[in-house]
Amino acid sequence: MIAELNPQALVLDGRERQEALGQFLTPSPVGDFMASLFYALPRDVRLIDAGAGDGALTAALVRRACSKGSGVKSIHATAYELDTKIVPALRVMLAECESLCRKRRISFTAEIHHTDFIQMMAGKLSGDLFSSAAPSFNVAIVNPPYKKINTNSPERLALRSVGLETSNLYTGFVGLLSRLLDDGGQLVAITPRSFCNGPYFRPFREDFLNRMELQRLHVFESRDAAFRDDAVLQENIIFHATKGIEQPPFVTVSSSSGEAGSIITAKDFPFGEIVHSNDAERFIHIPADSAHASATARLSDLPASLASLGLTVSTGRVVDFRLKDALRPDPGPGTVPLLYPCHFNGGTIHWPKVGARKPNAILYNDDTRPWLVPSGLYLLTKRFTSKEERRRLVACLFDPADVKAAWLGFENHLNYFHANGKGLERNLALGLFVYLNSTLVDQYFRCFSGHTQVNATDLRKLAYPDRGTLEAMGCGLKRPDASQDELDQLVEHHLHGF
Ligand SMILES: C[S@@+](CC[C@H](N)C(=O)[O-])C[C@H]1O[C@@H](n2cnc3c(N)ncnc32)[C@H](O)[C@@H]1O
Repeated sequence: MIAELNPQALVLDGRERQEALGQFLTPSPVGDFMASLFYALPRDVRLIDAGAGDGALTAALVRRACSKGSGVKSIHATAYELDTKIVPALRVMLAECESLCRKRRISFTAEIHHTDFIQMMAGKLSGDLFSSAAPSFNVAIVNPPYKKINTNSPERLALRSVGLETSNLYTGFVGLLSRLLDDGGQLVAITPRSFCNGPYFRPFREDFLNRMELQRLHVFESRDAAFRDDAVLQENIIFHATKGIEQPPFVTVSSSSGEAGSIITAKDFPFGEIVHSNDAERFIHIPADSAHASATARLSDLPASLASLGLTVSTGRVVDFRLKDALRPDPGPGTVPLLYPCHFNGGTIHWPKVGARKPNAILYNDDTRPWLVPSGLYLLTKRFTSKEERRRLVACLFDPADVKAAWLGFENHLNYFHANGKGLERNLALGLFVYLNSTLVDQYFRCFSGHTQVNATDLRKLAYPDRGTLEAMGCGLKRPDASQDELDQLVEHHLHGF
């Protein structure tokens, strides 16, 4: 039996409607993953799906409940959805849930509340004169709408009436759900990550961590992976929490690329490492380790080594204090370019750097020649990066078209990729540039906080895509000052099968 209550109209269309409603639907593999995070489900499930959309999450939960050995005997699903246009799809989905349950001999009933979840529940929870008592639930699954709410908006006032001070609809939804759950009731939610450390979310974190025990956090490495179809540029997080006031000793933190079927890596962390006991801000720290573990897993599937690509990486041979007499501040007769990390300029080399503290040139003679390399296209990386730098590994292209010379000096603070002491083929060099500057490789190197050095041995041990894949990445690179997103998209596109 599916009951419908309180129809309310909303007259908007297309993208505008989607944005007004914060409507981004959960792909079914993500829904199934969310449903898999619940501990054992209660025998009689009282489910709430707030901002149900077309019911994707309720359906995922029902599939889980209908799986062998779940022990579930009955489900009563309550769906709140404001959007008139999506309600027919929700109705169809709930009917499908009913028929699946019938096959598994599970009793299924549902009610659709075609109304504003915030106003309705805040009214009930604050006990206003016109509302009946708030219902209670033992299971909540939610992908709430994401939208800022202003200080004096009706939503903000409604939430304030139940003691919730928050600036986004999604935290408003989660805050209300945490109040509607029974003790021990479970919540799985997918939301933006911003509540974990955004300063405006401090009151929400406080409220949430005082009511809910955090069991599991799952992060996606790529910002828009989970909602690729909708191109939502949000960093999403999935979390599982149970109603109660004692935080667990450990929180499981997992990560995956966000692509369907991608590897999930998980690790347990003491709760005190996730939320520090003396932190008044109540930040929820997501350890970089989990992204590192997942990056390591992905890299382990790559087929090539540097040696199998016919390449070598070496540390720049010019140790400046040993060749002090041969160094020159500026280029001049009898000198060749000398390159330091200070000559890195975005993805390319800016040389000479007039007035720099480092010399720009080195004499070319019999004494210095053993420390020099013939000019060519080289890929250079910094050995040391400062903590402020965006990535641990910074790669840059040396293009002989930009700096005319027969010989070059690479200083000892940088590493250079070469083919038997000579330069690289263009597409291969560009492909390496894309790969080494990707977030994936950065996450691999970002394993130990404070460790900011990437040595030639680290780069020799790294796994690489095969030559064809690297060349295809190189071909796809439009310009060396591509944004991080552009580089990551190229890598994701070409590593898709790995
Ligand atoms: C992010 S979508 C998620 C939909 C669905 N749960 C899913 O995961 O695919 C959020 C949904 O909340 C609905 N919504 C927005 N504001 C609402 C409100 N105040 N009360 C009830 N539903 C709302 C939107 O129409 C949208 O369908």
